[in-house]
Amino acid sequence: MTIASSKAIAIKSKMKTLLLFPLLFLVVQAGNELEWWETTIYYQIYPRSFKDSDGDGIGDLNGITSKLEYLKEIGVGATWLSPIFKSPMYDFGYDIADFYAIQDEYGTMEDFDNLLAKAKELDIKIILDFVPNHTSNESVWFQEALKGHEKYYDYFLWEDGVVDENGNLQPPNNWVSVFRNSAWEYKEEVGKYYLHQFVIGQPDLNYRNPDVVEEMKNVIRFWLGKGVAGFRIDAINHMFEADKEMYGGQFPDEPRTGYTDNPDDYEYLDHIHTRDQDETYDMVYQWREVFDEFKEKDGVTRVMMTEAYATPQLIMRYFGEGEREGAQIPFNFALISDVDEKSSAAEIKYALDQFLTLKPLDKQANWVTGNHDNFRVASRFSPKLVDGLNMIVLLLPGIGVTYMGEEIGMVDGFVSWEDTVDPRGCNTNDPINYWQSSRDPERTPFQWSAEQNAGFSTAPKTWLPVAEGYETLNVQAQLEGERTHLNVYKTLARLRTEDAFRHGRYESVAFNSDVFAFRRWHNGEIYIVLVNFRDVSHTVDLTYFENVTEELEVVVTDIQSPKSTGSIVHASHLYVAENESLVLKVVN
Ligand code: NOJ
Ligand code: MG
Repeated sequence: MTIASSKAIAIKSKMKTLLLFPLLFLVVQAGNELEWWETTIYYQIYPRSFKDSDGDGIGDLNGITSKLEYLKEIGVGATWLSPIFKSPMYDFGYDIADFYAIQDEYGTMEDFDNLLAKAKELDIKIILDFVPNHTSNESVWFQEALKGHEKYYDYFLWEDGVVDENGNLQPPNNWVSVFRNSAWEYKEEVGKYYLHQFVIGQPDLNYRNPDVVEEMKNVIRFWLGKGVAGFRIDAINHMFEADKEMYGGQFPDEPRTGYTDNPDDYEYLDHIHTRDQDETYDMVYQWREVFDEFKEKDGVTRVMMTEAYATPQLIMRYFGEGEREGAQIPFNFALISDVDEKSSAAEIKYALDQFLTLKPLDKQANWVTGNHDNFRVASRFSPKLVDGLNMIVLLLPGIGVTYMGEEIGMVDGFVSWEDTVDPRGCNTNDPINYWQSSRDPERTPFQWSAEQNAGFSTAPKTWLPVAEGYETLNVQAQLEGERTHLNVYKTLARLRTEDAFRHGRYESVAFNSDVFAFRRWHNGEIYIVLVNFRDVSHTVDLTYFENVTEELEVVVTDIQSPKSTGSIVHASHLYVAENESLVLKVVN
């Protein structure tokens, strides 16, 4: 090598470092910047119950569009909508007849485009519900399957029945639907049973068929192409069943749990062959690749929120494995499934810590207290804890998710047996105890005002009755009032953007059986969030927390609190009233 050429190489490599340096700096900087999906608040809209624009008693797309400004006003930046697609509504839209069309009673594709446009104007992301596990029995695919069209026959799971000792045809095995009774339904024209893990009108798709996999990826591509920001993914852990080839060509029975004696109950069986199968995770990672095809084009992350009621260890697998990325937001249902009004502060701490402890360091936690499948959080805990629970959801490290109505503290509505429409309620066939299973109470119309039907609709009758108490518990009253849940929510949404909550570290404690508290801190700023879960007052010593020694300012209180914002409290003996919830800031 000549001196000249080695010099040239030296200069080149110097130039490279010079060029690389600012680049590296940028990368490091970008590493600290959070993306839209990491900081925004997600708000779930159940379209049927949010806002009715045409007076038929059923919420619709134009209704949602007309209320997007409300979301903006309360600090929400993204909303996920339960299904809006064409459906016979046996499971209120989770039984989809056409993945590419809008359900008539919700509006038209043009209405949806308007919704997207308005949301874009307001910088609100729209996330749709992707329901991969099943179609409706009215889908073209299922209809073609019934006609003997082989391609579509293979989209579903068909099995021969078995003849019992009396010569009667019985389902292929003991599998039970999530909504009770056999998960198999006989079809005369086919001479076989098909699998439906949910209602009879929801035949399960066969994910061992590559055509189904591709078909469903195209559904994702269609809506992402239209401009939606991502998907909530339905019933993900039901997608695969055991590989029957491993069991001599027959789907094996599931073992009993011993929880109930009724073989029609879903809880009768331990669902080792119909839930949480290993293949599920790979499918999620494949979808993430489709999402990322879109990110590659414009640099904007499309978000995936997965719905699975499973152990926290299994939930973590949705994040990704090794090099493969999965969902950014595998829903964390700890606040729904693991705790309730009876839980001690320590149990609350334990439930919250689990996800934070198990999640990979480079992933975000997420907090969910409600959805359209579970009793409302204000009813599961207490209306007095509405603000405290919103403090937890919005101020813990990670992503906050709000089910519509939680910001105003809506409670479960009473729905009589006669008015009950949810299949999970109806399938109990029990006019007395149906309400324990029905999901109608958490789906009653959104309460906008004290007007007729809570301002939800001008119809003489709404699809579900409006909950009692709407005359005072509604958005308008809470916008106009001073000490209201909605104002607390708005304050929390703003507070959440502070560095201490965005980037700060976290530590929590159960001071006693009732009072749970956590500290968030960043660059010398320290906040304490405290919730008294019980109707009993306490005095606690906040000097337990490092660097909390003297005075704290009251930044937010729940609406019943005897304290006022801006006042000063003392760390070593803080009086905490019954069910009081506070956000405090250390004063230097
Ligand atoms: C979960 C949905 O949230 C629920 O409403 C639905 O009934 C089932 N999946 C079946 O799609
Ligand atoms: Mg309507």
